[in-house]
Amino acid sequence: MSKAAAIFLAAEIINHPDTILGLATGSTPIGTYEELVRLYQAGILDFSKVRTFNLDEYLGLSPENEQSYRYFMNEHLFSHVNIPMENTHVPSGDEKEAEHSGEIYEQQMKEAGPISIQVLGLGHDGHIGFNEPADAFAKTTAPIALEESTIDANQRFFASREEVPKMAISMGIGTIMRAKKILLLVNGKEKAKILREVLEGPVTPSCPASILQFHPDCTLICDEEAASLLRK
Ligand code: F6R
Repeated sequence: MSKAAAIFLAAEIINHPDTILGLATGSTPIGTYEELVRLYQAGILDFSKVRTFNLDEYLGLSPENEQSYRYFMNEHLFSHVNIPMENTHVPSGDEKEAEHSGEIYEQQMKEAGPISIQVLGLGHDGHIGFNEPADAFAKTTAPIALEESTIDANQRFFASREEVPKMAISMGIGTIMRAKKILLLVNGKEKAKILREVLEGPVTPSCPASILQFHPDCTLICDEEAASLLRK
């Protein structure tokens, strides 16, 4: 699964060396990033002109904090390839700036040009980025309160539940839908039920990822366990 996802992204980087990629954190894409590093080390990929925008960041964690998504990206990808750090963007986790940093991030994306491929993982409650189930789809990058279930799921990365931030900043569903292509990565049997809801249920903000049914160019790469409940 990770190899297929890495090849999908590698083809884009080879065809368009100055591509703009939208990236995700979490456990799902770790193998994909490992494969990309391997392709770089083998001399197949050049990241020198690639630019990246990450989906989200916890509010209240500095880039040096090992649980921050900036740290994650440096650790799993950026530090191991020849991407200039100034080409990599992760929303600011600074709580004091939170009110404006969404707007600044949207502006940076607008100036860079459209994201070619947006990588997404899938939350157990159907979230993408940190867009939790809600009454409406969020349009742009903005601060967001995390659901208790998301705090529970992310607790595994922290020493205790109390340490998991309660707020994050995330690209909105509108931001994600503007990417030219979406690459949705899903694995494990614990995601089978929500994946069925995402693909075969109604499009509704109470299952944010269901909006991907309306994206004109969305590719799903999943394992057999995640696909086990799909009817079609
Ligand atoms: C990560 C992100 C989240 C994760 C989702 C799945 O940047 O935006 O939406 O993709 O929570 O996480 P994992 O892969 O850990 O199951």
